[in-house]
Parts: sequence; structure tokens; C-alpha cells
Amino acid sequence: MTTTLRPYDPLDISSLAFWGKTPAEREPAFDELRRERPLSWHRPVETELIPDEDDPGFWALVTHADVTAVSRDAETWGSGMEFGGVMMENVPEDIIEMAHSILSMDDPRHGRLRMIISSVFTPRRVKLIEDQIAAQAAAIVDDLGPSGEVNFVSAVSARLPMWTISEMIGVPPEDRQTFTDAANAMVAWNDEEYLAGRDGLQLLFDSLMTLHGGAYRMAEERAENPRDDLITALVQAEVDGQKLTPEEIAAFFVLLSVAGNDTTRQTTTHGLLALHRHPEQCEYLMADFEGRIDRAIDEFLRWGTPVLTFKRTARKDTEIRGRHIAAGEKAVLFYQSANRDEAVFADPYRFDLTRDPNPHVAFGGGGPHFCLGASLARVQLRAIFHQVLHRLPNLEVIGEPVFLRGNFIHGIKRLPVRY
Ligand code: HEM
Repeated sequence: MTTTLRPYDPLDISSLAFWGKTPAEREPAFDELRRERPLSWHRPVETELIPDEDDPGFWALVTHADVTAVSRDAETWGSGMEFGGVMMENVPEDIIEMAHSILSMDDPRHGRLRMIISSVFTPRRVKLIEDQIAAQAAAIVDDLGPSGEVNFVSAVSARLPMWTISEMIGVPPEDRQTFTDAANAMVAWNDEEYLAGRDGLQLLFDSLMTLHGGAYRMAEERAENPRDDLITALVQAEVDGQKLTPEEIAAFFVLLSVAGNDTTRQTTTHGLLALHRHPEQCEYLMADFEGRIDRAIDEFLRWGTPVLTFKRTARKDTEIRGRHIAAGEKAVLFYQSANRDEAVFADPYRFDLTRDPNPHVAFGGGGPHFCLGASLARVQLRAIFHQVLHRLPNLEVIGEPVFLRGNFIHGIKRLPVRY
């Protein structure tokens, strides 16, 4: 790599302190970058994982145009292990290997492995389980009873994604909570409360041990007794004439557990909070729920942007905005900033359920890694908002959200509500 020494941008988006601010407090920094320095060079992100003294820093991609262009140009911008994967922070190789699967892979292997499971996530296949998801959403609201005060995140938002992904993968009911807790910990290595005095790396390894142990057990069992679930599909699949190794199956399981749980949960909580803060938008939605919910979900996704960042690495010398980028340099995609880009979204800080078109990048900026679970997430969001908004019309948020600290997931840990 031939990175030239160049000054870092004066604006700090690398410190833990910056990522410890609330999302609203962080927005002005990205507004300034979009307006004044749409391509900027930053010092390496401060981390609880493995500080790397040779890391020169990263380019920040903050506009919608750059996030989508780089996401779609996988010939120039790699995600693979040889580039250290796709996290903004430097993550040890073992962890990437155990946790990321296709997320930190490039073609041709990425495409071949993605194909194994993509058939399960097509809109047509998802439609087949829509009724089950709707029934489960109803059961979650039944469990709340007629009135009470709860943490909306654990009592509502977390439950439908956990149920759905566990059913599709084939996780036995008795293991679901344990695996979901481990998957949640996988995105919380910068949060003091989750860490509770533990080291971030230790937290990741402990969670991975739990998830890999579970995956090995399930894979062995399905090799003997195949079923109609994703674990069986992975056990039976062949890529280039070879079966997947137990480690590869387990990494797929970790990716699906993390990607399938946390993101939909966050969108549910962000959506509810936004509706509470903009009651006129809630009224507008309820005047024609069936006709308006799909567009509303896109605005929940844009507004909440549950995944904040992913990274790409230049595979060859290239240019962005006329500036030279050397092979090996990293560029971080800031999805929330792209989703507030005034060049694409009129009045981007207005929560507006009538927004159309709404080309948000919450599921990624397009290209080969575009979210595989997008259709599934939409079905879940429709089901849970249908239940919550129709059956708990008096539900109110009675306190401030408690945010997760970190630069990866735009997480809300707690949101107290009364109904
Ligand atoms: C609201 C919910 C969701 C959001 C906001 C979301 C967001 C994302 C984003 C930003 C990416 C990376 C895209 C890129 O690099 O271009 C991604 C990839 C992925 N998502 Fe989702 N996701 C959601 C739900 C789900 C669900 C329910 C699943 C199902 C298991 C899922 C599975 C995946 C997988 C497997 C990938 C990796 C695809 C690849 O690398 O080829 N996601 N998602």
C-alpha cells in the first residue's frame, strides 16, 4: 500500500467519545462534512478491539452518491478477508472468519455462497411464511396483556425477529434466547453496560463460542435428520463440488443470527419512537394503514438507519471526486449521513411518511452485498406495526430512549412505554 501522509480532517468522527454521543448530537458533524468536505480523510477509529499502529486512517463517504457508487463497484472496492473485512474497526481475523461469512467475502466465492441461501429469502418464499409471522406478531401483543408499563425493546421489538430467524434457521425453542443474547452481544463491544467490565474481544469470543457450539450441534443433527430449514440447506449444499465445513456453516449461522435479529428490532423501536414524536404522522398512517404502511416502513428505515457503517477497501488505485485513492486504502460508508443527504432527500430532517421516492440506503447502497433479508424485514415490520398500532392505540412512550454506544449499530437498548 502506498498511502501518502496527509493531514487528518479536523472534525473528529473517530473517537469513542464521538460515538458515545446521541445520534442527534452526531448529525451536525456529518452535515458539515456533506456540505463542506464530502470526501475527507480521518485518523483510525478509536476502539476497544485491536488498535493497529500501522493503520493510516480511512476515507469517510458521507454522501448518497458516493455510498451507492462504492457499494455497487465491487471490482474496485473489496470486502474480503484479505482487506480485513467490512467493519469500521480493525477486527481480528479469527473473529471475521467465525462471524462474517459472505459479508466479508468477494466474488466468486461470495456469489456462490450467497446463492445457497438467497432462494430462502425471495419475496415469494417470504410470502409463504407471512401468515405465520402475522400470527406471531399477534401473540407478542397478546402477551402484553390489556395494560402495563414495559421496555418496548425487550417486550416487543426484539421478539418477532428472534422468532422468525430462529424458525427459518431451525433453532430449537429452548436455545433461542441464549443464541439471541449472544447475537446481541456481537454488536455491543463498545458499550460499557454490555461489557460490564469485560474486555470487548472477550465478549466477542464468548458469544462466538456459544453460537458456534450451537451451530455444530444443529448441523450434526440435521446431517442425520434433514428438515425443511436453513441449517439443513447449509449441511446439504455444495460449492464447487465441496460441502461446506462445519466452521463455514457456523459462520453463516452467526451472520444470519446477528443480521436477522438486531436490525429489524432497531427499526421497530426507531419507528415507534418517531411515530410518538410526530403524532400527526401517526394519525396520517392510521387513516389508511394498509395503503400507507409500506411507504411508512421505508421512512422508518431511512429515519432509523439501523446499520450505521460498513467499510470497503480499494483493490486498486482509483479516484473519488477527483481525488486519488491508493490501492489498500479504506473507505467507510456512513449510511445515516447518506440517508440525510439533502441532494437526494428534500428536507431530510423531516420525518415524512409521504416521502416518495425514498431511495434510502438502510439496506445498503446496492451491489452484490445488498441486504438479503430486506423482504423478510418488511414483512415483519408490517406485521408488528399492524398489531401494535391497532391493538394498543393508547400506547405512549414515557421516558427517553437509552442508546447503544458504538459506530456499527444505531441501537436503542431501552424505551419505556405505557399502554
Ligand atoms: C431492517 C432490517 C435490516 C436492515 C436495516 C439491514 C441492513 C443491512 C445492510 C446495511 C447490509 C449490508 C449491505 C451492503 O454491504 O451493501 C445487510 C446485509 C445483509 N443482511 Fe440485512 N438488514 C436487515 C434485515 C436483515 C434480515 C431480517 C436478514 C435475515 C437473516 C438479513 C440478512 C443479511 C445478510 C445475510 C447480509 C449479507 C449479504 C451479503 O453480504 O451478500 N438482514 N443488511
